[in-house]
Amino acid sequence: MKIGILTSGGDCPGLNAVIRAIVRKGIQLGYECTGILNGWKGIFDEHYLPLGNKEVSGIINRGGTILGTSRFSPFEVANGRDFLLEKIECAGFNAIIAIGGEGSMHIAQLASEAGINIIGVPKTIDNDIYGTDYTFGFDTAVSIATEAIDRLHTTAESHHRVMVLEVMGRHAGWIALYSGVAGGADVVLIPEFPEKIDEVVKVIKSRSKRGKLFSIIVVAEGATYIEDEIKTFAFNKKEFEKLDDFGRVRLGGIGSLLAEEIERRSGFETRATILGYVQRGGVPTAFDRMLGTRYGVYAMEMNHEKKFGRMAALRGEIITDISIKEAISKLKTVDKNTYDVAKVFFS
Ligand code: F6P
Repeated sequence: MKIGILTSGGDCPGLNAVIRAIVRKGIQLGYECTGILNGWKGIFDEHYLPLGNKEVSGIINRGGTILGTSRFSPFEVANGRDFLLEKIECAGFNAIIAIGGEGSMHIAQLASEAGINIIGVPKTIDNDIYGTDYTFGFDTAVSIATEAIDRLHTTAESHHRVMVLEVMGRHAGWIALYSGVAGGADVVLIPEFPEKIDEVVKVIKSRSKRGKLFSIIVVAEGATYIEDEIKTFAFNKKEFEKLDDFGRVRLGGIGSLLAEEIERRSGFETRATILGYVQRGGVPTAFDRMLGTRYGVYAMEMNHEKKFGRMAALRGEIITDISIKEAISKLKTVDKNTYDVAKVFFS
């Protein structure tokens, strides 16, 4: 039985741990594993890589994905569905294990509805996939963002500056919230719970009255409500609204905008740092290697049990599975209780 493995969407630390685990468990159960290169596009291009012990050796600690990735969707192409079915039949895949985020799980669901045997593995540094407590990659991204906040603290304090750190998080502020709390930030701005810039300025001023002449503000890239508040929009709108291959607005830049506005309103010298792709690259933490490995082993067990159209999911300490349809029904955004923990420190 031949199983195709693909990684799709933005890359993420821990992908190679998942691939390695699927292949190792597959060998144990007697399956032939083939890597599909560059996401779903690899099926169209017939770009395949047979995966055995040798190919997955020494990759658990490597960031990125040995298979390459893309945001290509076969269902956005004319006759894409039929072409996909034809190509899968031709390649002889009995099932496909798709490792991806929200956009990729939507494709996986369409593929499943088209009759393809699909198993999903949730991946994203944003940690916003519904039905699973954590996605691998999130822990690594939070660690990197927390380290950045630690580093910003010392320079902010020395120069008596406000530092704005922009982190990723398209729809959900998990990275901003976790790293902000762990790094001792003074305000965290996330898409789920809009705060007024004047409130941020109030915190900065109240800190200065206590002799704290610096502040650290963490903002998620998806906190676009900030734009609405700032009338003097300094960006080239067209450039800002570039779309990615999934048709989504390419984000990034809200931190610079916010820094300018804070400086204008507070009089405090303010600098912005955009963490960008640094938080998505490089070696995964031990937690993400372990989580990725558990997902990979479980995904191959799901295949063995023919649990198609379903996605592996972490619930508490247990790896289980849910239907992909349910997983894409909504996003897992930051809840009020967790946000209130961060708010304790906005003063
Ligand atoms: O989906 C994960 C993510 O990290 C988002 O937070 C971010 O908006 C997006 O990827 C950016 O990815 P790319 O520039 O590769 O499309």
